[in-house]
Amino acid sequence: MTSTAYSRPSKLPGGVERRLPPRLMRGLTSKIEPKKLGVGLIAGCCLALLTYVSLAKLFAIYSPVFASTANTSAMLQNSPPSSPKPSVPETEAIPPQETLAGGGSRGDAVDLPEVAGSEEPGLPEAVTRKEMSAGAGSDEPGLPEALSRKGDGENAAAASEPKPSPKKEEGEQRPNGGAAAAAAASSGEGKMTCDENGVDEGFPYARPTVCELSGDIRVSPKQKTVYLVNPSSAGGFDESGEKRLRPYARKDEFLLPAVTEVTVKSVPSAAAAPECTKRHAVPAVVFSNAGYTDNFFHDMTDAMVPLFLTAGHLKGEVQLLITNYKPWWVQKYTPLLQKLSNYDPINFDEDDGVHCFPAGFVGLYRDRDLILSPHPTRNPRNYTMVDFNRFVRGALALPRERPAVLGEEPGMRPRMLIISRAGTRKLLNLDEVAAAATELGFNVTVAEAGADVPAFAAQVNAADVLLAVHGAGLTNQIFLPTNGVVVQIVPWGKMDWMATNFYGQPAKDMKLRYLEYYVGEEETSLKDKYPRDHTVFKDPMALHKQGWQALAGIVMKQDVSVNLTRFRPFLLQALDKLQE
Ligand SMILES: *[C@@H]1O[C@H](CO)[C@@H](O)[C@H](O)[C@H]1NC(C)=O
Ligand SMILES: *[C@@H]1O[C@H](CO)[C@@H](O)[C@H](O)[C@H]1NC(C)=O
Ligand SMILES: *[C@@H]1O[C@H](CO)[C@@H](O)[C@H](O)[C@H]1NC(C)=O
Ligand SMILES: *[C@@H]1O[C@H](CO)[C@@H](O)[C@H](O)[C@H]1NC(C)=O
Repeated sequence: MTSTAYSRPSKLPGGVERRLPPRLMRGLTSKIEPKKLGVGLIAGCCLALLTYVSLAKLFAIYSPVFASTANTSAMLQNSPPSSPKPSVPETEAIPPQETLAGGGSRGDAVDLPEVAGSEEPGLPEAVTRKEMSAGAGSDEPGLPEALSRKGDGENAAAASEPKPSPKKEEGEQRPNGGAAAAAAASSGEGKMTCDENGVDEGFPYARPTVCELSGDIRVSPKQKTVYLVNPSSAGGFDESGEKRLRPYARKDEFLLPAVTEVTVKSVPSAAAAPECTKRHAVPAVVFSNAGYTDNFFHDMTDAMVPLFLTAGHLKGEVQLLITNYKPWWVQKYTPLLQKLSNYDPINFDEDDGVHCFPAGFVGLYRDRDLILSPHPTRNPRNYTMVDFNRFVRGALALPRERPAVLGEEPGMRPRMLIISRAGTRKLLNLDEVAAAATELGFNVTVAEAGADVPAFAAQVNAADVLLAVHGAGLTNQIFLPTNGVVVQIVPWGKMDWMATNFYGQPAKDMKLRYLEYYVGEEETSLKDKYPRDHTVFKDPMALHKQGWQALAGIVMKQDVSVNLTRFRPFLLQALDKLQE
């Protein structure tokens, strides 16, 4: 195919690859003796589990981005990170703007992405998801099943599942797509339903509006407008027949102004809409690439997981249109995007055609960060994070679906990948930890989450156990084989909520075995910076209450050095969990 978006040169501005060469550590002992492992599981782990406290009242101060920015325009502009050395995100949390003391300024430097792609990605393999074996039949994609989500009975014609088209040719879609559009338009007229119920009770981030359209849909990127031929003008439009939305899958008052606003315009007849320059037989998905993308956590939570939730069921028969288009981002995630869509994405910022579709989505459905739960409208197919994991494994051709079975292969040792961090929250005694793990029988690799997503994903997928200090690197757990083990080292400072919601619960949702180790006062570098009677030790919750600045400036800046006497039982427990 004559791809334009995907076939750009592989070197990206700023996307310098800097993965550390994996260090292989070998220890003295290698024989695993399964029966004895459980004995090591002693009290050490209990301490960690006791530290949960209710943070309900404080939810509002967290929001999943890295540390804040001194210069937000640098983060929001449509250009790649300028630093040749992507720094590690301070954390994944940024407070919703309205809750920040002072309301506007952010104190810290922009956190550049942890993973910035630079390699020419390979082509994805065929999807292996179970439902993907759905029958053949007409080669004409039907309307997406999603259009009948609301169950209001008005859209029976739209209920058929789209079938994969046999071949795409040079990114062109079969020209009889207009027939589908015409059929849709005549079977009922244009229709729009929007999910505006964005409040997520018990969670700090609301969900942005997403609208689903069917009928005669004409997208004019230049006008930032989606026309819907809609003679009755019904369906949630304002007095001027418009509906405006910002199609980024995170509702963040600070961020949304940077997201291009897209207008859906209801017009009474086809004659009132611009003429099609290209007809597509498949549904459109319009979404924005603005904001926090290029932080690996956000690339997943704000784009890939929502894209999967919105368009995964279309089995590639969907056209993506990307506003706030970032070419390097599209290139970085080419294998995933190609798995989602059989067609080159359209750059919504530059395209001056009028693209016509029988159906479409403006905006993306999202659930929680790295968490998917069944929901009648948001997730009617009940996708789970395990489905998402399968999706990424398929896209990146990651071979392992299960971790190693201990003892199956003589001499084979379970593999542990320790993600090292270059910036903050370093594991100061990483060598000691690696040696202890090796001694216990692990085949240990240490690596920094680097610029090359497919390569690092392969490294993670090769591991049975992933160990890392709290940080965006832990997002890489999405590449682990199902039932693999994640060990999160949680730094000092009552970081329970973030540890649980960004990584712990997601790990469980991905059917990974999850362990967390909470460092004590003796194990944090904060003890060298602050006296023991400082708030950071006496009342860390007070820092959370002060807001993000205090957290980012103090708690997020620590390094940790784990006490092996306490930590070793966790390594043993990781071994144990591999055998469950
Ligand atoms: C913020 O970043 C933008 C774009 O990089 C730059 O033009 C501007 O001068 C910066 N502002 C400050 C206050 O540093
Ligand atoms: C999704 O789950 C709900 C229960 O949570 C169930 O009622 C529904 O039938 C499920 N839908 C599918 C498509 O499996
Ligand atoms: C250790 O892991 C590496 C890959 O990370 C592998 O090549 C090697 O064979 C493994 N060694 C053992 C003893 O399992
Ligand atoms: C490490 O932990 C053990 C067990 O809790 C404790 O006895 C020991 O004093 C700790 N070592 C250091 C250096 O804090």
